[in-house]
Amino acid sequence: MVVHEELDPHMSSSRLVVMGQGYVGLPLALRAAATGFAVTGYEPNTATVEALNAGTSHIDDISDEELGAAKRAGYSASSDPTVLAEADVIVVCVPTPLSDAGGPDLTMVETAAETIGQHVQAGCLVILESTTYPGTTEEVFAPRVLARGDLGADDVLIAFSPERIDPGNPTYGVKNTPKVVGGLTPAATVAAKNFYGTFIDTVVEAKGAKEAEMAKLIENTFRHVNIALVNEMVRFSDDLGIDLWDAINCAETKPFGFMAFRPGPGVGGHCIPVDPSYLSHRVKAKLGYAFRMVEMAEEINDAAPTYVASRVWRLLNDRGLAVRGARILLLGVTYKADIADRRESPADPLAATLLSWGADLRYADPFVPSWAPHGSESVFSSAEDVEKALKDCDVAVLLQSHAKFDLASIAEHAPVILDTRGVLPPVPGVNRL
Ligand SMILES: NC(=O)c1ccc[n+]([C@@H]2O[C@H](COP(=O)([O-])OP(=O)(O)OC[C@H]3O[C@@H](n4cnc5c(N)ncnc54)[C@H](O)[C@@H]3O)[C@@H](O)[C@H]2O)c1
Repeated sequence: MVVHEELDPHMSSSRLVVMGQGYVGLPLALRAAATGFAVTGYEPNTATVEALNAGTSHIDDISDEELGAAKRAGYSASSDPTVLAEADVIVVCVPTPLSDAGGPDLTMVETAAETIGQHVQAGCLVILESTTYPGTTEEVFAPRVLARGDLGADDVLIAFSPERIDPGNPTYGVKNTPKVVGGLTPAATVAAKNFYGTFIDTVVEAKGAKEAEMAKLIENTFRHVNIALVNEMVRFSDDLGIDLWDAINCAETKPFGFMAFRPGPGVGGHCIPVDPSYLSHRVKAKLGYAFRMVEMAEEINDAAPTYVASRVWRLLNDRGLAVRGARILLLGVTYKADIADRRESPADPLAATLLSWGADLRYADPFVPSWAPHGSESVFSSAEDVEKALKDCDVAVLLQSHAKFDLASIAEHAPVILDTRGVLPPVPGVNRL
């Protein structure tokens, strides 16, 4: 592994096409535009393209002002794939979801690679950023990029660079989060390093594309497994009468060899619940055996919303109430705090369980005006609305501690509340997971 911090003075005037203008692609495109690249955001969703070209951002972390500044610096969005023929650098940031059967769904990576293959010209650097299993760049992506047959691996340089963006993180963004790069050839690695080095402070060179692909999966599997560890421990700690939250606070004082993870209502988003499955599926498909740590973590984290439902049931039971007909208020239904992204949110399976038990479910979320599984509108438009909803419910559940929530007021006004984030003051009526 080699760490590069130098800049390539020639590259920032190149033409860049970023494929996919979502949570990952748009911030990257705007950052590169601010550095001097002539950037086109290629996006097949024409409504997104129209909105971006009209100056309206659909991504939480990107304001319309930032988008406007990038447009003035030369950024534009397009659904026309011929823009790829003009590119010196193409970066692919398309979704990599799970299929209905739970395995990798690489359809969008394949389509993007095929589109590049139809237009790419010699001398282009093509980088895949979408999270995927090790071997994808070499076995799935590159053959499609080079499918036309007139260009080889020396003509089109192909690399993988894992995306590490953390939506809602006020400290770490595109510029100051170190970037790992690994090419299919040494020349591709150097080119990718030089490209990112023009607008990212630290670029880390991996041995090759597979190591770069694996680096991302280690990061996310590490989180998945450690969250599962505390999510399993919280259950038996409660049964043993031990405050696990306090124990974690104590353990955290060790200045070396420990990193604190805290229990929660389950894992959500497009990374933690999805990426480790890519790796376990790959191991099973290629080698025939299981990646047991991931399978166990999945089992535990998938069961977390059901455990939350059982704790809600107990809190009602303690007050002589049944879940059927009980007015249950969920606070925060996104997968993490302070963003609007609801993908894979544990609020969905929790709601499904509570609704199947006959609960009268309500919710409040400043980022989610309406919520399909529940079929109603958020009660959140002011702190008073939340107070009123709390007074009107039998039990509340804090699922996300959005900064817009007044935690002291929530603790004061809830008749009984289950705090799945361990953030509410320890006053009567507040119960930690
Ligand atoms: N969101 C995150 O926090 C995050 C963090 C790290 C890594 N990732 C990974 O980055 C990748 C992209 O995730 P995202 O959150 O930006 O997804 P997203 O859904 O927000 O955006 C992806 C965009 O790609 C577009 N797209 C689909 N097919 C395309 C094609 N063939 N060509 C061009 N564009 C196409 C979609 O219309 C969409 O606008 C995924 O592999 C994800 O796992 C995401």
